[in-house]
Amino acid sequence: MLQSNKDLNISKQLIDWYKDNKRELPWRNTNDPYLIWVSEIILQQTRVNQGMDYFLRFTERFPDVKSLANAQEEEVLKYWQGLGYYSRARNLHAAAKSIVDKFNGFFPQNYQDILSLKGVGEYTAAAIGSFAWNMPYPVVDGNVFRVLSRLFGISEPIDSGKGKKLFNELAVQVMDSEKAGIHNQAIMEFGALHCTPFNPQCLFCPLVDKCMAYTTGKVTQYPVKQQKIKNRNRYFHYFHIVYNNAYTYLHRRGKKDIWQGLFEFPLIETETPMDFLELKETKPFQTLFNGITDLAVSATLMNKKHVLSHQTLYTNFYKIEIDTEGNGLSGYLKVPVGEIEKYAIPRLIHIYLEKMS
Ligand code: ADE
Repeated sequence: MLQSNKDLNISKQLIDWYKDNKRELPWRNTNDPYLIWVSEIILQQTRVNQGMDYFLRFTERFPDVKSLANAQEEEVLKYWQGLGYYSRARNLHAAAKSIVDKFNGFFPQNYQDILSLKGVGEYTAAAIGSFAWNMPYPVVDGNVFRVLSRLFGISEPIDSGKGKKLFNELAVQVMDSEKAGIHNQAIMEFGALHCTPFNPQCLFCPLVDKCMAYTTGKVTQYPVKQQKIKNRNRYFHYFHIVYNNAYTYLHRRGKKDIWQGLFEFPLIETETPMDFLELKETKPFQTLFNGITDLAVSATLMNKKHVLSHQTLYTNFYKIEIDTEGNGLSGYLKVPVGEIEKYAIPRLIHIYLEKMS
């Protein structure tokens, strides 16, 4: 499609469809860039239904940039708990601080400034700019890739450099730039509800007579992806150690791995699956329990599979009662047993605690 014969009909049809079919969501019908920003970051992480609860809780506690900037990181993480990808929450927090420092606490109203915020990429900047101020930047997310690739029958992989550029150009082409905000909401909602990955509603589709994929009978073959991301298996063994029925031990996860900054039980990770007898023979186990002779395994949760975006964790939990504290535990945080949930913990640990209670 050429610049010169830009067809605003598609945009109009999408917007008409949107007005009739959109979901009422708490981050819609607001121009507040802060609320839009928070909702978009949450929605990168979870589906709309679950995201709603998180959004409402998060924005009740942190209703504006300043309240978020003034909070302690641990509290922010606590409100994020269960969503995963905690770096997103950390970036949100850091960006709120930088808005206070650099922009006097006012959300920047210029696309490049929005894009400069930590954790804000082109998609999020376009969403904030267009929803809050009708800035003419197209959002290009998974829904938009799907709608456009079907409509125009594009086989260029969406995860190739060339594909990204092409889809971005097309997204600009189909957008009515004077109605960028509602157009962007409309095309995403259309992808989410109507032009879905499986069982799209082609028979009731306002764009069916323009849809190349429908015409050629290839709807579910789009969008095309270049590569499947490899999945990695990891084997985690957690020790829920209880000292004198009163205390347990936690540590805070470091950088450059999953769950940065969250708290968890002492952990041994192995390259391959291992049962308890094998584990007992390993150096990390002997170091952890050094000096403890009387060690009673009182409960276990075995082979709990936990799937993350690019890795699958195979986890075992051992509850171990001790009545002497060895020096292997000295580097851990000693926490009263009733207070574990006060810490920001991964959802996996939360699931274990629920199962065991
Ligand atoms: N997914 C990403 N952004 C969204 C939004 N603003 N509304 C609904 N779903 C979304």
